[in-house]
Amino acid sequence: MSMADDNVPDLERGTPVEFSEAIWDENAMWWRETFTNGADVEYAQEITPLVASAFDGCQSILDIGCGEGQIARLIAAAPHHPSVTGIDPSGAQLANARERSPGTISFVQGAGEDLPFPDAHFDGVICCLAIEHCADVDQVLGEVARVLAVGGIFLLLINHPLYQGVGSGFVDDQILGEHYWRIGPYLTETVSMEEVDNGVSLPFAHRPLSRYLNPLAERDLLLVKMYEPPPLPAFLEGSIDPLLESAIPRLLGLRFEHRPRPTI
Ligand SMILES: C[S@@+](CC[C@H](N)C(=O)[O-])C[C@H]1O[C@@H](n2cnc3c(N)ncnc32)[C@H](O)[C@@H]1O
Repeated sequence: MSMADDNVPDLERGTPVEFSEAIWDENAMWWRETFTNGADVEYAQEITPLVASAFDGCQSILDIGCGEGQIARLIAAAPHHPSVTGIDPSGAQLANARERSPGTISFVQGAGEDLPFPDAHFDGVICCLAIEHCADVDQVLGEVARVLAVGGIFLLLINHPLYQGVGSGFVDDQILGEHYWRIGPYLTETVSMEEVDNGVSLPFAHRPLSRYLNPLAERDLLLVKMYEPPPLPAFLEGSIDPLLESAIPRLLGLRFEHRPRPTI
């Protein structure tokens, strides 16, 4: 797409890419060391508390895109000992998950787009920072609705699509002497390579919120709670405008209940 299409320079879109199955195998050890078991402040202080109580009362929970299993372990540690299953396409992520998790958690290799479970098999489903790595969002959300029993809970955690999409970020314009949070091309769906660490780039899908909410609403998944936590103090360190940045969420959490509408 050129600049003339919508006045957004190509450079701000990231580099368009395809998803690659191998990329999570290649980066499994990096993920394990950098983001799991307390290594990452956002997981430790924000995501973990949010997830810890989300499935109280649920007996059977599926973790889609479970990675190295930290979320599955957290849920399985609940006092009522729910049964937890994690699914992920990456063999290397699953090898770490099996090594680090108690044998009570079942880990299955597969994709969110094609869940190898019967209809209404789970009363809780979570997808934590994984849907942006799935190629076919409609297919994944359709599968979520299929395997989730009536009354069940679905918790979706994503990078905030409005504020953290491609081309969004803090701008310190020293020529004009102003700084602000820029919003990238929110409505444009892209898959782009983002450098997430030194020498580590991963493909992320950016989609507007309607691409998540509408397929779920069509399948009777009712939004019952939305979480937009402010960034943790660690993310404001060194900011030249912490007041502005403290008002820009990084994470979005959406909690749904499967409540079919009565047919007339
Ligand atoms: C950022 S990691 C998150 C892992 C875990 N949910 C957590 O929060 O620790 C993203 C995970 O999504 C997985 N993934 C990629 N494509 C997928 C797909 N089509 N279906 C399910 N998971 C997928 C990757 O293999 C990777 O383990």
